[in-house]
Amino acid sequence: MNQVNDQTSDIAAPSPGAGRRLHPLPVRIMHWINAVAMLVMITSGWGIYDDDVIIRGFQFSGFWRLGDWAAWSLNWHFAGMWFLTVNGLIYLVYGFASGRLREKLLPIRPAELVQTVVDTLHFKIAHEDLTVYNAVQKLLYIVVILAGVSQVVTGLAIWKPVQFSGLVSLLGGFQTARVLHFAGMAVIVGFLIVHVALALLVPKTLWAMVAGGPRLAARRRAKQGHLT
Ligand code: HEM
Repeated sequence: MNQVNDQTSDIAAPSPGAGRRLHPLPVRIMHWINAVAMLVMITSGWGIYDDDVIIRGFQFSGFWRLGDWAAWSLNWHFAGMWFLTVNGLIYLVYGFASGRLREKLLPIRPAELVQTVVDTLHFKIAHEDLTVYNAVQKLLYIVVILAGVSQVVTGLAIWKPVQFSGLVSLLGGFQTARVLHFAGMAVIVGFLIVHVALALLVPKTLWAMVAGGPRLAARRRAKQGHLT
């Protein structure tokens, strides 16, 4: 399943409508399953947190919590966990096997990173070419994917501390694993605020994640002068 090869062969295809979309159907399905599962995990996690807070005096209001009381939140958390983990694993296997992760998220050049930050500070976020992620996007996607993996690992440690006692010690103990799990949630929520705001500011990216976006082969043929 080599996407680069797929695209190369698509360039020679005669039909103008042919070719892979920017976001192939499996990516879109996995993205939206992940989005729902992540929201369930975050809001139910807040319900569990409120029962035994980490930061004294800091609680989440009932409006933001999934589950009327901690036991219900825990049920939601365990249900969401399976969707998040299985879907995330499939996304990673698909991403590595198809070459999508490498192709879309690498390389990240420091100069490009700085330029994108400067452009963003000047509100230049036109995002003309949907098929290429800018350096900040690439970095944020890598960070959030790693944060997702870290949530599953720290979550396993605090869910089954006896069975995974080795993992708990590796993470610095039960309480540290809990704090790391909370910190991972904060990173993901921070990402989500920026991610959703940018998707709303540039709605064509949002529509592309729903409908698939432009066909890559057609775009490439156009670049090579086969289409106007
Ligand atoms: C619930 C609201 C969400 C919305 C509206 C949303 C929207 C989008 C959009 C529009 C894109 C395409 C960006 C582009 O082409 O420039 C995208 C990609 C992506 N989103 Fe989200 N997203 C949401 C939730 C999430 C969550 C919860 C995560 C992970 C924690 C996530 C992680 C990603 C990643 C990693 C990509 C790149 C996927 C790839 O190209 O393989 N998103 N999202």
